[in-house]
This record gives sequence, C-alpha cells and structure tokens, in this order.
Amino acid sequence: MLEGKIAIVTGASRGIGRCTALQLAKSGADLVVCARSEAPLKELVVEIEALGRKAIAVVVDVVNPADVGNLIDQALATFGRIDILVNNAGITRDGLLLRMKDADWDAVLDTNLKSAFLMTRAVAKVMSKQRCGRIINISSVVGEMGNPGQVNYSASKAGLIGLTKSVARELARRNVTANAITPGFIDTDMTDDLGDKARAELAAQIPLGRLGEAEDIAHAVIYLASDRAGYVTGQVLGVNGGMYM
Ligand SMILES: NC(=O)c1ccc[n+]([C@@H]2O[C@H](COP(=O)([O-])OP(=O)(O)OC[C@H]3O[C@@H](n4cnc5c(N)ncnc54)[C@H](OP(=O)(O)O)[C@@H]3O)[C@@H](O)[C@H]2O)c1
Repeated sequence: MLEGKIAIVTGASRGIGRCTALQLAKSGADLVVCARSEAPLKELVVEIEALGRKAIAVVVDVVNPADVGNLIDQALATFGRIDILVNNAGITRDGLLLRMKDADWDAVLDTNLKSAFLMTRAVAKVMSKQRCGRIINISSVVGEMGNPGQVNYSASKAGLIGLTKSVARELARRNVTANAITPGFIDTDMTDDLGDKARAELAAQIPLGRLGEAEDIAHAVIYLASDRAGYVTGQVLGVNGGMYM
C-alpha cells in the first residue's frame, strides 16, 4: 500500500509512535525514526529491517530547531525524498490551573505544538517541491473536549488542530495533505500511571467499553498516509471508542 514511500515518525521510541513506524513498514514504507532515546530506536530499526524495509534512527529533541534541521538533512541524504510526516512526539505535565507552573506550560506547548510547527515547516519545503506529501498530526480527544488538570496539554492539542487546518489550506495546491488524529485514551506508558480503578472508571465511560490500543491509532495513520485518503485534507479523525462525538 505504501511501497516506495519514505516516512518520518517523531516519538518513535515507544508507544503509539513505535507501533505506527512498524505498521508503516509492514505497509511497505521505509522509515526515519526519531526520539531522544537512542537504544530503543536502534532496536526498532532492527525490527523494521527484519520486515524487509530500510530505516535510520536519528536522535532528536523535537523542540530543538538544530536537531530538526539535522533530521531532515539525514532523511534527504539517505532517501532523497520525504512522503509522510507523522508528528507524534508528545508529553504531559498535568496539574490544576491554579497550581500549574510556567515551566510545565512551556514544556508541553513546546514539545507538543512548537515541535510540529518546526517539523512541518522543514518538511513542507521538500513536499511542496515534490508536489506530493502527507502530514499527520497526533492530537488528542482532550484538545476537542478539554480535561481538568490538563490546560497545557489540551491547549497544545487544540493548537495542533488549528495548525493542521491552516497547513492543509496552504499546501493543498501542492498536493500535500494535512490531517489530525485525535486518539481517546490509549494503553501506553502515557496512561500507565492511571491505576486499575481509574482505568475501569474510564472504560465505563467509553461507548466501546475499553481503552484503545496503539494499533488503533497506527491503522488510522496508514489510512491517511495512503492513496485512499487522497481527497481528505484538513480533517480531524477521532479514534476514541466513541467517547467524543
Ligand atoms: N496514550 C494516550 O492515551 C494518548 C491519547 C491521546 C493522544 N496521545 C498522543 O499520542 C502521542 C504518543 O503518545 P504515547 O501514548 O505513545 O506516549 P509515550 O509512550 O509517552 O511516548 C511519547 C514519545 O514521544 C517522544 N518524545 C517526548 N518528548 C520528546 C522530545 N522532546 N523530542 C523527541 N521525542 C520526544 C518519546 O521519546 P523519548 O522519551 O525517547 O524522547 C516517546 O517516543 C503523543 O503526542 C500523545 O500526546 C496519546
């Protein structure tokens, strides 16, 4: 489905990013995987190569413009083009509004939103010249409905939706699409510290009755990256078990 395509996935060292990179490889894409931790990226490259695809690991702090520039240079030096960008790297620094520290606001906005701006600006140049490309931003259901204790996170994820729609409008004439996915609660390290009771209470509020799996998000990425989504741009695809409609 994605044979010959070159994909960059940020935050690929674990969770949704790792799973997405593997699913992209299984669909035929070659990969540039990045995050701050080198060891898990190297293991991922071995797994991708075992699937018969090419991959490089690049250690990147997505809030650092020099790292982002180096990532794009390495991707182009190795593969000569970039077809798919998945802006997935993200963090939480939860706290109630009245107690939230400036540093926690800044860290979350930088990692979750500014990073996508830096990556998208760099990749847009390449995709515009190619006259094709797919940009997929991993937002969150919390960006659509809000969540107590997450003013920073929900603002960053709502910001990603605005960024997605503006990018979609700017790049459409170059045959570059931009879409956002809004996951609900997905079983990863990010939701690990919920505890069994909170997890059961959450599941009870989700119409499909369970938390999502990383694969649920990866499959949505594959669709948006594929030719089948060629007429889809500026959209927000909720993958949330029905918790927000
Ligand atoms: N899990 C959920 O319920 C859920 C729901 C909605 C949306 N999401 C979103 O989905 C995305 C992935 O979440 P996840 O659950 O897979 O989280 P995760 O398991 O905590 O993984 C986060 C990934 O982001 C990377 N990362 C964090 N800061 C980075 C930085 N400054 N530079 C480069 N990479 C960085 C991490 O790698 P290093 O630590 O190695 O850098 C890691 O690979 C996030 O954007 C998250 O907000 C998750």
